[in-house]
Amino acid sequence: MSNDQRYVESLRAALTGSLADQGALSSEAVVAAFRTVPRHLFVPDAPVEVAYADDVVLMKRDEAGVPISSVSQPSLVALMLEQTGVRRGHRVLEIGSGGYNAALLSELVGPEGEVTTIDIDPDVTERARATLDAAGYERVRVARTDGQFGYPESAPFDRIIVTVTAGDIAPAWVDQLADGGRIVVPLRLRGQTRSIGFDLERSPGSAGVLWSRSSVVCGFVSMQGAGAAHERLVEIEPDKVALQLDADQVLEAVLLPGVLRETPEVRWSRVLLGREESFCQLDLWLASVFPGYCVLTATRRAVKSRLVRPALRWGGSAVVRDATIGYLTSQPGPTKNAVEIGARAHGPDARRLAEELVAQVLRWDEERRGRPDPVFVVHPLGTPATDLPAGPHFTTRSRVITVLWD
Ligand SMILES: C[S@@+](CC[C@H](N)C(=O)[O-])C[C@H]1O[C@@H](n2cnc3c(N)ncnc32)[C@H](O)[C@@H]1O
Repeated sequence: MSNDQRYVESLRAALTGSLADQGALSSEAVVAAFRTVPRHLFVPDAPVEVAYADDVVLMKRDEAGVPISSVSQPSLVALMLEQTGVRRGHRVLEIGSGGYNAALLSELVGPEGEVTTIDIDPDVTERARATLDAAGYERVRVARTDGQFGYPESAPFDRIIVTVTAGDIAPAWVDQLADGGRIVVPLRLRGQTRSIGFDLERSPGSAGVLWSRSSVVCGFVSMQGAGAAHERLVEIEPDKVALQLDADQVLEAVLLPGVLRETPEVRWSRVLLGREESFCQLDLWLASVFPGYCVLTATRRAVKSRLVRPALRWGGSAVVRDATIGYLTSQPGPTKNAVEIGARAHGPDARRLAEELVAQVLRWDEERRGRPDPVFVVHPLGTPATDLPAGPHFTTRSRVITVLWD
């Protein structure tokens, strides 16, 4: 073995070790796959130190400069493979190719299994084919097609792993999943994306119900093609403050222009959050209890001028009800590492909405904080309400997703 090869192997071993130490890698099979697959061959233009850093490698942007293709961050790849639970002999479909993850999947299924990876972008499939061949993974099938429709030619699959943010669980994915199969998908719900691992339960005559077994907050490029679900931005102060809504989300309320300029009602919760602590679970809690939930984004200028004072400027919880808007705000806590969460509301029913928001922050703090994410149960859209589990739900293009907090 040359010195260069020894150096590359040492980088790969170091990355694998650090992913195991962080807990991103846990099962023996996935650790072995990470030790084996030469990631540098899938990002041939990057220096080897970059190839073996725990970082995403961006491969392509669209004309507006938005990233549309990448080789994913190793820690996220590891977490998702652990969620997927791929075993030897499995038939696996990967939606969104890069080559690297498909090679790891190929190691996991072994010679008895089968891996198909599909991508909508011909540049990506061409690159994936070439790099998989160069690294010795000629057995992986690569196809250019819109992942929204799965890949019926190789179905059924024991596992489907989607590596691009989806706003829905496409009907084809469920149809092409074998009985007892699992799908792992980065699903965007109310402004947040979670990689959720769902197991399929199919009873005779039913299209199948998906039950989540795990979820991890994550970020991916957005899906293109027939399943593209771009978020909508509704400006409430031109060029300064906007509300972000899921593609399928309907906001029935109508805010009056200039509502943010009305005197606010502000309430504080005494709930402290570490400056580095994530708002994700609190946001999901609020999204599931308030029908008018949306995400507020503001420019630096809007915050500086004190027009809005959101806890998170680039995307914080907000609720719109009739002509009133409320959102989470924060103020310095007793120590420099903590902030206190509160609510700020404007409009005719501001006092009540600010109080309700704070009451829900307190409920989350007492009942949910520090506990695992809820279970998500997914039924086809149109399922009679009597067949759905009790609990708050979100609707997407083809699904009703019930959130079971208990
Ligand atoms: C994050 S990259 C995939 C990373 C890859 N799995 C790896 O091994 O690192 C996401 C990919 O999804 C692809 N994509 C976007 N929309 C798609 C669609 N509708 N069907 C299939 N692929 C899609 C993009 O072209 C992009 O290459």
